[in-house]
Amino acid sequence: MEEKVSIFDTTLRDGEQVPGCQLNTIEKIQVAEALEALGVDVIEAGFPISSPGDFNSVVEISKVITNPVICALTRAVKKDIEVAAEALQYAKRKRIHTGIGTSPYHIKYKIKTTPEEIINRAVDAVKYARKFVDDVEFYAEDAGRSENDYLAKVIEAVIKAGATVVNIPDTTGYCLPEEYGAKIRYLKENVPNIDKAIISTHCHNDLGMATANTMMGVINGARQVEVTMNGIGERAGNTSLEEVAMIIKSHHNLNLRTDINSKLIYSTSRLVSTLMSMPVQANKAIVGRNAFAHSSGIHQDGVLKNRENYEIIDPHEVGIRESSIILTARSGRAALNHRLQLLGFNYDKEALDDIYQRFLILADKKKEINDEDIRMLTGEVFQGEKSLKLEVLQVTCGKSTVPVATVGLRINGEVHTSTAAGNGPIDAAFTAVKHLISRTVHLEEFLIQAITKGSDDFGKVHIQVEHEGKIYYGFGTNTDIVTASVEAFIDAISKIK
Ligand code: KIV
Ligand code: ZN
Repeated sequence: MEEKVSIFDTTLRDGEQVPGCQLNTIEKIQVAEALEALGVDVIEAGFPISSPGDFNSVVEISKVITNPVICALTRAVKKDIEVAAEALQYAKRKRIHTGIGTSPYHIKYKIKTTPEEIINRAVDAVKYARKFVDDVEFYAEDAGRSENDYLAKVIEAVIKAGATVVNIPDTTGYCLPEEYGAKIRYLKENVPNIDKAIISTHCHNDLGMATANTMMGVINGARQVEVTMNGIGERAGNTSLEEVAMIIKSHHNLNLRTDINSKLIYSTSRLVSTLMSMPVQANKAIVGRNAFAHSSGIHQDGVLKNRENYEIIDPHEVGIRESSIILTARSGRAALNHRLQLLGFNYDKEALDDIYQRFLILADKKKEINDEDIRMLTGEVFQGEKSLKLEVLQVTCGKSTVPVATVGLRINGEVHTSTAAGNGPIDAAFTAVKHLISRTVHLEEFLIQAITKGSDDFGKVHIQVEHEGKIYYGFGTNTDIVTASVEAFIDAISKIK
């Protein structure tokens, strides 16, 4: 029988501490609803005493969320606990998360007190929190650098005081996986009342070991993991929810399970990334743009023969429609032939060899070969919207002006124009493009990146649009980001078959 590992999501508390990624209450509710659908067990909704905004978000999230426990963070301070309890008043299931530093650094230099006094304050905080709620989690801040025998005394005392969950944070992301696992094992073996509480991991990623440390914690007896979507969080971030959920799902021999509906991982990742304006790195495990993209010839050939040759997770399992074969100069005949077949072309070996030679010449000049390039190689003349070309783009925008864009598109050799207003110049231009095309498209992803530094450099835009359940990618590069965006949009639309 598999044992359950609870998912404690702190995207809205630790994750939201990322500078520049703050969300308003409406956005936080959107994220909380997505997390509930995803199947998390606990949502840490905020740190209510820290600001009226945080307080209000905890109140509003408590009102709309039904299944997950809503958790509010406090310091080991009475006033914090009172405010957290008030913010949680509407929660159907509630938890107060209180704690204090237990490492020599925190005791001596941050709190400037004695180890004994820390235990007293920890116990008082837990007892006080228990007056308001039945579920109290205690965190031993900087447990990663705390001495194990002292940490065990603190944990024993707080469990005796009523803590239901004990969180062992590697606050600075310093521990090695072996060391963190051994710490959890030490607590399991040396805290006499440890069976009365759940041990929770909370790992930061400063040395890139957050997921490894979390897994070592779980392997050694932790049954709750504190994670964030996309691994966002202060500095190098927290443990990624999607990584832990998929490790547990893929490694059956661990005999563990979570209640995460993995098919919603990708959409939740996109939502968090978009609302927080935090692009996900292309090579991010599970949810990065390239996580299921294959570009080398050997790998493409292997995936086409059997997906499992080079993929340990079926992309559908995490809500990604398909793995993508990126055609570049390193792609082999098998990948090119696969794409040609998808586009409706069937060639014998000789014709394929011929087209492959032309493909390599083009691929040496262009980084990526798109479907239009392939059609060009086959000598096909494009028809309809596949021959879209941006001929005119004029935008008006500024501080006290309604943004307006005029777009001229060449469709089937004829230029058609449209003018539209929008929230900003890009929105206005996209609306004008939509007026000119016959298909209904939804923008799924929009990412602008500076290729190099400086305001005069090239901006690169990646776009994903959805049409009738399928995703189409578009790219644009220009020194003018509005032009790059519109070109990327048109590039994506022109791939719709
Ligand atoms: O990293 C940490 O120690 C924390 C605690 C406040 C739980 O985020
Ligand atoms: Zn943290």
